[in-house]
Order: sequence, then structure tokens, then C-alpha cells
Amino acid sequence: MNYYILTLFPDMVMEGLNTSIIGRAKEKGLLSIEAVNIRDFTENKHNRVDDYPYGGGAGMVMQAQPVYDAYLHVEEKIGRKPKVIYMTPQGKTFHQSMAEEFAKEEDLVFLCGHYEGIDERVLEEIVTDYVSIGDYVLTGGELPAMVMIDAISRLLKDVLHNDTSAEFESFHDNLLEYPQYSRPKIWKDKRVPEVLLSGHHANIEKWRREQSIMRTVEWRPDLIGKAVLSEKEKVFLEKYLEERKKDLH
Ligand code: ADE
Repeated sequence: MNYYILTLFPDMVMEGLNTSIIGRAKEKGLLSIEAVNIRDFTENKHNRVDDYPYGGGAGMVMQAQPVYDAYLHVEEKIGRKPKVIYMTPQGKTFHQSMAEEFAKEEDLVFLCGHYEGIDERVLEEIVTDYVSIGDYVLTGGELPAMVMIDAISRLLKDVLHNDTSAEFESFHDNLLEYPQYSRPKIWKDKRVPEVLLSGHHANIEKWRREQSIMRTVEWRPDLIGKAVLSEKEKVFLEKYLEERKKDLH
């Protein structure tokens, strides 16, 4: 996977993405990241990339020309039209299945805006996907692009050490993850659940799935209807919901 980030703050994204698992994956050659500084493509003698909005209003607008030329630099480099993701609170909300789709691409371009936005004409010309990371407004698209790159990269082959860990994650089967425990067995008078010490793998698996189901009901009730459950687990869920109803009364 080759990522290209069109940004006014290349240091911000490169410093963030050079650390931890993504940094290691980069070193191993599993992915590449290039931050393209939009300001390097300005034709303005004062190096400006923004101007006042036509029609008036607050703030400044990033101009079409430097954004377009920064994009063309990438397109020429890779020799074809890549997916171009514009980070904007107006886009479709990012989620796990979107990460899975993007992870299939060979190249991804992220366009990070600042100020009040980017001239609509260049967006129409180059953007293939408008994506938001949630219903709140940030000062720029850099953090959202980093969030997406992190979520996509951990799905790429060999990026995570243990190749089962991308699978056993929150949202697998639309269930949240079960609780985890490590040593010591007792901490602040709290004991590790007995079943986890039993060595009985089938019981441990059953307990974990039930914990996942209960957690999903409590924390993400919007997901439980979409959970992929066995017949026995469906019965467990029914009983749990009934008990819970009684407790609430
Ligand atoms: N730019 C500013 N806020 C954003 C958000 N929530 N998601 C994506 N891009 C953004």
C-alpha cells in the first residue's frame, strides 16, 4: 500500500505515522507514506495557498491550482488515477467495513483541507470519496487522515505480528471485544474470572462470546441486532435481555 497525503502540514502527519506499528510496517517495506506539501505547488509569489471566498463570508478558502498540481504530481508518479479521499465532516462516516474496502487498494491519496474549505472545482475534478471520522469539527484533515491510515494499515498483510489479531477485534461478528486479564490473579481484591484459569478451552471460548454479547448489549445496543450469533448464543441473548428487563423494573 502506498499512501500519499496532500497537506499543508507534512511534518505533523509524518511524525505521527513514523512511530509504533505503522512506523515499523513502513521500515519493513509493507507500506509507504509520502506527505506532499501543497504549498510547494503554489504559483503565488508570496507562497499563498488560500484566498477570500467569492460571495463573502468568514475565513479563507484553499485555492484550486496548488491542490490540483500537488495531486497531479502524485498521479504522474503512480501512472494512473488513484482513489482520492477528501477528509471533511460532510463526508460519509468512516467505519470498519470502509477500512476493509480501502485496504484492497494499491495507492490511496488523502486530501487534507484547512481554513474554511477547498475550492469546490478542484474537489469535483479529483476527489473520489468524501469521508468524515465523526460528527465533530476538527481544525484540519490531518488527524482524520492519520486515523484512517492507522485503521487501514492494521488490516494489511504482515502489519500486525499475530495474524489472528486483526480478526479478533471489536466489530468482528458485530460484537465488542470480551474483557482481558493478565497477571496477577488478584489485584485490589479483584479476582480474574475462574474460567480463564481452568485451561478448558471450550468453556473459555463460550464465556468470552457471552461477555462480548453482554458488552454489546450494554455499550453498543445499536449493534446487537446485527450480531452474528449461533443458535445457542441467540438463546443466551434472549435470556440475558429478559433478566436485564426484570432488573430494570
Ligand atoms: N475535517 C475537519 N473535521 C473533520 C472530521 N470530523 N472528519 C474528517 N475531516 C475533518
